[in-house]
Amino acid sequence: MMRLTWTCLLTLVLVTAACEAPGEEPVPAEEAVPALKEVFADAFLVGAALNPDQFYGRDTLGVALITKHFNTITPENVMKWEQIHPEPDRYDFEAADRFVAFGEERDLFIVGHTLVWHNQTPDWVFEDDRGEPLTREALLERMRDHIQTVVGRYRGRVDGWDVVNEALNEDGTLRPTRWLEIIGEDYLAHAFRFAHEADPQAELYYNDYSLTNPAKREGAVRLVQGLLDAGVPVTGIGMQGHYALTYPTLEELETSITTFAGLGVDVMITELDVAVLPRPSEYWGADVTRREELRAELDPYREAFPDSMQQALADRYADFFEVFLRQQEALTRVTFWGVTDGDSWLNNWPIRGRTSYPLLFDRAYRPKPAFFAVVATARE
Ligand code: G3I
Repeated sequence: MMRLTWTCLLTLVLVTAACEAPGEEPVPAEEAVPALKEVFADAFLVGAALNPDQFYGRDTLGVALITKHFNTITPENVMKWEQIHPEPDRYDFEAADRFVAFGEERDLFIVGHTLVWHNQTPDWVFEDDRGEPLTREALLERMRDHIQTVVGRYRGRVDGWDVVNEALNEDGTLRPTRWLEIIGEDYLAHAFRFAHEADPQAELYYNDYSLTNPAKREGAVRLVQGLLDAGVPVTGIGMQGHYALTYPTLEELETSITTFAGLGVDVMITELDVAVLPRPSEYWGADVTRREELRAELDPYREAFPDSMQQALADRYADFFEVFLRQQEALTRVTFWGVTDGDSWLNNWPIRGRTSYPLLFDRAYRPKPAFFAVVATARE
């Protein structure tokens, strides 16, 4: 079927649009904007990663969007080790408690992110009082204490956890983190078992980026199959979904979804966004430690995002959602990594202070052409 252009779609769906001054975007009438969670209700949950301005209620327009469109939420940062467990004997649950309460108040499927990661984990985690590396047994004990304290606190309230995040290299081998160095390859099995003991009902996920790359996909298959063979309670694989206009191919995306589903676990798109800015290099991953210098040509849309790019983004999102809908038996959830373009980590990575446009809602909280293109995929 011929794909509708976004202007054409807007014309179709905007039964009443407010009059706008020349050059301004039309503001869609509220009733012309369907709720994403209803549009995809028969296919999968639809969610977003949240920041404190949203779950503390300061970003009231953001809260309205979340309440209307999403039925699952993930905390973008506040459950990471450095924030929830900043010192050996001190946990800080304040923001995480508010995040969970926000989800409960709206009856949302709540995801915890993340228990074991190599980033945003303080150095002390791996060291003893004298700054010497911990023994395997001591680090396992520290991991157990952390997981059981955090998962135990939200037992029966947080529905699923990203138990281990980003454990794989691009070639599919295990990433050389301090978890691996000190504990050994079974650190993942222990993490999942500790989480299961703390909340036997919670879903437990392995979460990573670039899982559409063949070598990394095969690495994830080996990893998760090995865990399942050993009786480790892994319930799902999270494909982060930090994508771009030309990456990945739709074939690789679909192959990964079907391959992971073939392992008998749930598959979910956990951190979806589509990068639109020029890349300083041909790196397509999401390693948060990578940094590049700002140059004007790498930040071309500071003032406005051209119509041609809006259309390209809308087409790309439509392509992705066509795959997601075709694979709805395998997919349990699609979570965007942020609500509006203004919230996105891509404004600050891999270069700080750029103006990016990777999500479905713009900086003024309006649905973009990409939003309507996504909605249209469910109605084709
Ligand atoms: O909280 C401090 C604040 O006090 C300080 O003033 C400010 C100054 O830079 O920094 C704030 O911390 C930042 C934090 O986000 C909260 O905004 C960190 O510098 C920044 O590095 C951190 O970035 C996050 C990144 O993970 C690292 O944790 C991004 O927001 C977050 O979107 C990103 O999310 C990751 C997923 O967890 C895993 N997959 C990849 C994804 C994207 O990188």
